[in-house]
Amino acid sequence: MVASKYAKCDLMKSEFTQRANNLPAHGLGLSVDVYSPDLLELVRALRDAQLEPGYLEVFKATTSALEWMRQQLPDIKLSYHGEGLWSTQPEFPRSGSGRQGVMEACAHLAALRSAWLNHECATKHMAGYAFGTYLPPLYTEVSARKTAENLAYLQDQVDQDARQRGIDPALVLLEMPPLTYFGCGACSIPEFFRTVTEQASCGLVLDIGHLWTVYRYTGGWQQQRLEDYVAEFLDAFPLERVIEIHVAGLAELTIPHASESGANGHALPYWIDAHGAPIPGVLFDLLEQVLAHPGLTSLKGVALEVDTKSIGLIVEEFGQFRKRFESTVHEKVRCEREIPLPPQRFPIGRSADGCRLTPQEEAALRHQYRNYVQLVTTQTAPSSVSDFALLGGSVEDLGRYRDTYLPHELLHWGGELQDMFPDTCRRLAEADVPLARFVPFWFSRPRPEQDDYDFFLLKVDRFVEFATQACPAAAMIVLREADELRAAYRAANEPIGSSQVRA
Ligand SMILES: [Fe+2]
Repeated sequence: MVASKYAKCDLMKSEFTQRANNLPAHGLGLSVDVYSPDLLELVRALRDAQLEPGYLEVFKATTSALEWMRQQLPDIKLSYHGEGLWSTQPEFPRSGSGRQGVMEACAHLAALRSAWLNHECATKHMAGYAFGTYLPPLYTEVSARKTAENLAYLQDQVDQDARQRGIDPALVLLEMPPLTYFGCGACSIPEFFRTVTEQASCGLVLDIGHLWTVYRYTGGWQQQRLEDYVAEFLDAFPLERVIEIHVAGLAELTIPHASESGANGHALPYWIDAHGAPIPGVLFDLLEQVLAHPGLTSLKGVALEVDTKSIGLIVEEFGQFRKRFESTVHEKVRCEREIPLPPQRFPIGRSADGCRLTPQEEAALRHQYRNYVQLVTTQTAPSSVSDFALLGGSVEDLGRYRDTYLPHELLHWGGELQDMFPDTCRRLAEADVPLARFVPFWFSRPRPEQDDYDFFLLKVDRFVEFATQACPAAAMIVLREADELRAAYRAANEPIGSSQVRA
């Protein structure tokens, strides 16, 4: 077993190297959404300011929207930011996200002619429960091995599809996710990604803002200066696998109608990942530190993630970014290969060999993910759950996620319930049914994963169930409002696609 582990590790390393060597340098780019803000308008504004990006990483949209974007922007490298592929979860290969989601992702890669498929190492669907924004994986050794197994499956599927289309296969990249106030598990985050990369040939995306949240919510900030913490983190992290770096905004959660936004007497703000918010200066200082690290040997691109940000602010920040980092990034990503390599052919079915989870490990992991859901959604989690190790953060911060962030996500995020269902909400208020009861209702029982994850439509369906059950007199009203919402949503997303809300 030990020998096979090392053999697999060497194989994955050399496979990664071959794949990475075939990727073109991308340079300084932007990670964007087709719709928010309007991508063509953004490109026009950047060109007017003589700030043509080296590439655009486009977030998941419909295949036709991505094909159309490829036609409109023939001269810019486009890469793909996937969504809905929950590869941290034990059931991934058999789930809707593992079947339909992967097929769809392959079509999107071909539409954009993307060199890579980036996806967060996080999920919005866990043990039958849906969430509006990403939850990080359990940071344990077994969970890392499962993630690696699932990534090998994903890369196999991408390779097979590329062969059928006669195109170069995209490299699967796994992005280190943000912590939204907490993280759980017994191994450190660098250790987790080290285990994944020993078992899979994937590349990685290092997000600088996410790294700041790790410093903030694992308690690192109480022990070390940021630069020292990051220096140690980078030494332990598999930096040689990092293909892309992201930089995005951070902000505190703002709750509509609340009198205070969580102001605190702590030394650091309660920032969380927020793509629409300005990028704090501290992140550019961190980027400089990361770019100077000698372990960063496979970098191909650095992108500002700017979906949901105003065009004016994007142009301003991209200009500053270019001025400060252009020469360093170009130096780092330059392609030293002069003779193009022959097309790659890797054996399909690598996911079947060595280091798979045993049935017992798989069952235990499923059980742990059920406990994870209980821990983050329930005030009174059983004692077997409450001794789950936090990644060095505080129980109060986990409470902040459960008691503030999660209700906000369900009641206000991705569609304000009061605006979506005004008549139903009025009727519920008359019947003394507080909207806050929707939160425990949402988590009252697991439901099967849907083929195409869409938080907005899920929210509509669940609210119909909730209102009908909590106030039968509101049944007709909520059904009518739900029909109107679904019709408006369909109309708004035609002809170029469904708008997935990105976290
Ligand atoms: Fe990111």
